[in-house]
Amino acid sequence: MPAALEAILLVGGQGTRLRPLTLFTPKPLLPTAGVPFLAHQLARARAFGVRRIVFATSYKAAMFADAFGDGSAFDLEIEYVTEDTPLGTGGAIRNAARALTCPPDAPVLVLNGDILSGHDIGAQVRQHLSGDAALTLHLTEVEDASRFGCVPIDEDGRVLAFLEKTPNPVTNRINAGCYVFRRSVIDQIPDGQVVSVERETFPTLIESGGRVLGYADSSYWLDVGTPAAFVQGSCDLVLGALQSPALPGPPGESLLLPDAVVSPEAKVTGGTVVGARAIVGSGALVRGSVIADDATIAPGVTVVNSVVGRHATIAGGTILRDAVIGDTAVIGPNNELTSGARIWPGVTLPESAIRFTGDA
Ligand code: GTP
Repeated sequence: MPAALEAILLVGGQGTRLRPLTLFTPKPLLPTAGVPFLAHQLARARAFGVRRIVFATSYKAAMFADAFGDGSAFDLEIEYVTEDTPLGTGGAIRNAARALTCPPDAPVLVLNGDILSGHDIGAQVRQHLSGDAALTLHLTEVEDASRFGCVPIDEDGRVLAFLEKTPNPVTNRINAGCYVFRRSVIDQIPDGQVVSVERETFPTLIESGGRVLGYADSSYWLDVGTPAAFVQGSCDLVLGALQSPALPGPPGESLLLPDAVVSPEAKVTGGTVVGARAIVGSGALVRGSVIADDATIAPGVTVVNSVVGRHATIAGGTILRDAVIGDTAVIGPNNELTSGARIWPGVTLPESAIRFTGDA
């Protein structure tokens, strides 16, 4: 393990699947279990010996430096390299490599900025070094690999192919979005062009006989690219299913941020975070959700597996289930929003004229 491992963090994506949450805040900065999402990744990377991280930014680039500065709060050195137009995952890695200081043979850790992973980064780097690999991919196992590209390996851990999504995947091992590159391999990616590591760099490297290894494990892993996964990630961190040094409090059923006001008659469970100065009224039931700063959940509201944005208001009798409510939106009384409903920031939904009573 090198004494001072360098890393590149990919954080330039637009996070379209997480709109409207990502309209004003890039995905990696969304408040997750009380802190910006990246704080969890940075703390874990630091714990595994990373000392210097180059952020590959594009979408809302300036917000990253505002949030993390020079990295000293994490005992890290952080550099920012910004693409004028997004260069894709491979182009971004190549572009960010100009801020690396390590020699051509050194390992460089590359992290997608939207993954929560409990895997042993140190073990992945050690496998890369002892296997003298050009590239070592972290692979995770999922039940249904048909939604992902899959990555078969042989008994020695050598990657045999990097396959596109298919209804009949040959393995349930998939790319987990954390790579160790030999630095010289990054330097071979074409400069200043849009390149995808998943569609171009990895398949080409494997087909041309490059030594690509898979570090396969089954530790906690989640891609927080969708609202449902984002909510799950936040709850898992609050519950302690994935331990994070950045969690601002002990793990438990809920995390209340400073000056949150939760009625003793409310039930807040399932890893819910209640943001700073947010209010949860009496009789409200909030389970497995993210309530952002300054939001108001009126008495008698039900919120399950949902996100309520900053300064949003949810009036009495309303039910939210698998819903995303944008910042400052106002949801009038007695509405029911379920199954992936998304309300854009600033929208006001009037009181429902019909009150469901349960009668036939
Ligand atoms: P969606 O738009 O919802 O698919 O999300 P996304 O934009 O984040 O794309 P995706 O989840 O495929 O990206 C994986 C990782 O690569 C994320 O951490 C992105 O921030 C990052 N990323 C994707 N494209 C670019 C890019 O062109 N430049 C940079 N710097 N990072 C990128």
